[in-house]
Amino acid sequence: MIRYSKLGYVALNVSNLGRARDWYEKVCGLQYNGAGSTGELYFRTGKDHHSIALHEAQPPGLKRIGWELEDDTQLDVLARALDNHGVKWRAMNDDECRAAHVRKGLRMREPITGATMDYYPKAMGQQEEPYIPAVVKMQHLGHVVLGTPHYREALDFYHEVLNFKTSDEIDGRISLMRCFPNPYHHSFGIAHADTNTLHHVNFMVSDEDDLARARARFAAHDVPVVWQGYHPPSGNTFLFFLDPDGLSLEYGYGMELFPEKNPRPPRVFQPRPESFDSTGADRDARVASCGEIETAEAL
Ligand SMILES: [Fe+2]
Repeated sequence: MIRYSKLGYVALNVSNLGRARDWYEKVCGLQYNGAGSTGELYFRTGKDHHSIALHEAQPPGLKRIGWELEDDTQLDVLARALDNHGVKWRAMNDDECRAAHVRKGLRMREPITGATMDYYPKAMGQQEEPYIPAVVKMQHLGHVVLGTPHYREALDFYHEVLNFKTSDEIDGRISLMRCFPNPYHHSFGIAHADTNTLHHVNFMVSDEDDLARARARFAAHDVPVVWQGYHPPSGNTFLFFLDPDGLSLEYGYGMELFPEKNPRPPRVFQPRPESFDSTGADRDARVASCGEIETAEAL
């Protein structure tokens, strides 16, 4: 049974790094933390060297997801699980480890959505200086959700091979999962979609004040706010907005926490709008409408 520490980082492809550099720092509120050897830009939300890496590539979307395992032994546990299910993987090479700021790791292409995943033991390289909240009281990188037409197949894979635990499902539409034994209601989600796609990336913020300030900041920078309300499954108060390429990002606060032992069983919510948002607010059609999953990276 693989044991995770947390969702480590998300690497995104964006069309214009210069524009994204300013936007992710000054509008989204991440702290810029330098550039990598191939030009990628790093941003942090805490002590970890980065929670988001931006690469300039078309089309915009997901490049890779990094998962932090509890300790070194979990790399072997994961490798055995992948071997047992016939999933191809390889050790990350030195350049890849340096770029990810990790000691060692394992890379695989998740076979349902095609997303590239890195797994590395705790912890990523740490910054001595604290994260300084400039425009938002950022808590941490929250979760990433992928969409796929192969919804049930994907759930089976994440449950059986990767030891993710569904906390709640909106029946047939979205499954919200913990990376066991991380306590957050979800660090990952699988949504039903017409194509394999990046659905959204979430950042956990502190309180309503962060959302109120965000609404004013976004209005001043012409950032579309595309959905806001309250998620009954997770207890998250949320606000969805679009990055300069139209990728869906989310702020949220108030998520339910799960104990490792004797957690409550998962619930199944009816597939109707109030299961997604109990406030009845309009949901803009641009929510999760773009975000290609890159499958070109050599494995
Ligand atoms: Fe979310």
